[in-house]
Amino acid sequence: MSAAIALEAVHKHYETGHADVHALRGIDLVIERGEWVSIMGPSGSGKTTLLEILGCLSQPSSGRVRLGDVALEGANSDALAAIRGREIGFVFQAFNLLPRLTLEENVALPLLYQRVPRAERRERAIEALRRVQLDHRAEHRPAEASGGERQRAAIARALVNRPSLILADEPTGNLDTVRGQEILGLMEEIHQAGATLVIVTHDPGIGAQAPRCLKIQDGELVADDRRPR
Ligand SMILES: Nc1ncnc2c1ncn2[C@@H]1O[C@H](COP(=O)(O)OP(=O)(O)OP(=O)(O)O)[C@@H](O)[C@H]1O
Ligand SMILES: [Mg+2]
Repeated sequence: MSAAIALEAVHKHYETGHADVHALRGIDLVIERGEWVSIMGPSGSGKTTLLEILGCLSQPSSGRVRLGDVALEGANSDALAAIRGREIGFVFQAFNLLPRLTLEENVALPLLYQRVPRAERRERAIEALRRVQLDHRAEHRPAEASGGERQRAAIARALVNRPSLILADEPTGNLDTVRGQEILGLMEEIHQAGATLVIVTHDPGIGAQAPRCLKIQDGELVADDRRPR
């Protein structure tokens, strides 16, 4: 089995006006194709930073990242954007929905970038909204949706391009237990169909459902637990 993602000695520094934050401190990590991995750790420990690097949304300050057979150091930004658009579904912690677009238009956006024809975009966006039980809110704008509905729209947008790699940052953080389990069930279904799944969560119950659970603390991986299935 070839690795979906491999990180080697990855460091990430954020330079702000007043401080240099060393957010990741030498991460070595291999995630195989088809794995389901959860990432847990305290607030500020580097979970989102790590997920952004796994999803090629940000470059490490040093170290190497390989996605499938592609070494990211050598790849240009167009090639990276193409890989992201085709292969990766990202559920952002802060949703990142565009306020002027309806939920359906937000969900369809990745397909627009893939130049999918309009009628098919609409059909697939509605289908993705249906999977998170939100098709009845398709015409609402994000401001007219609840926090949990926005979260589910962000999940539908990540699923709409049928990605082989799903990276989800606190995908159940705004949902009650029942909805959270429904979303997790949906993700498990997609994982069963072959996708690689990486979920950041504060919820130990959700973390423990993954066959592999990583723990991060102060920018370092401190545990990598595998549970027999
Ligand atoms: N754009 C940025 N500029 C400067 N510092 C940043 C930036 N993004 C994150 N940081 C800092 O990097 C560290 C790791 O942040 P990160 O967002 O990865 O944490 P996290 O584990 O996702 O936390 P949370 O559970 O609260 O979402 C924190 O100390 C944070 O303040
Ligand atoms: Mg975070």
